Amino acid sequence: MVEDLLFTPFQLGRFTVKNRLGVAPMTRMSSVRDSIPRRDVLDFLVTRAKNGAGIVYTEAIVTDYESAQGYPGQARITTQRQIDVWSRVVENIRRHGAVSIMQIFHCGRMAWPAVNPAGRVIAPSAVSPQQDNPLTGQPYPIPEVMSRFDIGHVIAGFVETARGAMAAGFDGVEIHGAHGYLISQFLSAYSNQRTDAYGGTVERRYRFAREVIQAVRPMVPEERLLLFRISNWGVADSQISLFADADEYQEIIGRLSREPIDALSVSTYRYSDPAFDSGRTMARLTREATSLPILICGQIHDRASAVDALRDAEIALSAKTALLNPDWVEEMRAGKAMPRYSAADANVAYTTEPLP
Ligand SMILES: Cc1cc2nc3c(=O)[nH]c(=O)nc-3n(C[C@H](O)[C@H](O)[C@H](O)COP(=O)(O)O)c2cc1C
Repeated sequence: MVEDLLFTPFQLGRFTVKNRLGVAPMTRMSSVRDSIPRRDVLDFLVTRAKNGAGIVYTEAIVTDYESAQGYPGQARITTQRQIDVWSRVVENIRRHGAVSIMQIFHCGRMAWPAVNPAGRVIAPSAVSPQQDNPLTGQPYPIPEVMSRFDIGHVIAGFVETARGAMAAGFDGVEIHGAHGYLISQFLSAYSNQRTDAYGGTVERRYRFAREVIQAVRPMVPEERLLLFRISNWGVADSQISLFADADEYQEIIGRLSREPIDALSVSTYRYSDPAFDSGRTMARLTREATSLPILICGQIHDRASAVDALRDAEIALSAKTALLNPDWVEEMRAGKAMPRYSAADANVAYTTEPLP
């Protein structure tokens, strides 16, 4: 029998991931009280593990009570109650044989100030996205420029949140460096116009990401996983290329490769699109610049696209397909015809109706 690549286990750090299919991080905006997601939203993660996913990511967990939250109803993990709730989710994901990863995030200039208890909007520079915030219908506020003190404070939030994730028993933590949120804002000259040690050259723009990784790693024991997510696109002004060219992107990947991380997760709009003017995909460009395992995401919706995406990656992540189709792993195994869902289809993520 021909080996089925999608169902060949992969060794990620000390974990054997049972197949190559994972549930991408998805914010569900469901926490009405105490920064804890709704029960059915937590159950959704367990159901996806039960139905065969090799890796299950949580939604992006905000790293402080002050300026990290970008959307209503996001979750945190800095109280014992939050830890206890998540630890039951982790146990159940593990019982079904999947690896659990908590994603941790600070939104930076993408903030909706009303949802942060302290109401602050902070970013590398006083530059807001060009487009309006689709959730408020208003322009994004001009952010306050982060001082050195703010930088240290925000890093402490990442550390504390990683500590919460470890206390809850997660197999790993992912630092969200993608999609135009805070870390991505530092990495990109589009949003980082600083003239101090955190802005200017690629090395300087990279410094904040490095400091976050270096501070978080001691919280994550060697036998667990630390991952970093990156993208060349942001949720706001999505047409803008966040990196100048393939060389700049690959320089950042090279720098990330020298950090104590276990894998890189690359988020694309469509995994097969050529990036920059290189004629190569984001996964291919990443592969050329690192020997770290790569997780790839972006319209991987059926068996053919998953197999194709794994040419330059180890694990294929799905967001919309995993959200809308509870049986996606088995349907991929069977090679069943599967639809490509639209962003509008994914709005079910924000309804209160439990997903199957
Ligand atoms: C409802 C929804 C919520 C999302 N929330 C997050 C998030 O919290 N963190 C993140 O890194 N990406 C988030 N994403 C992006 C996805 O992880 C993924 O990168 C993107 O949707 C492309 O994958 P797809 O084509 O399989 O949907 C979200 C996507 C959707 C549809």
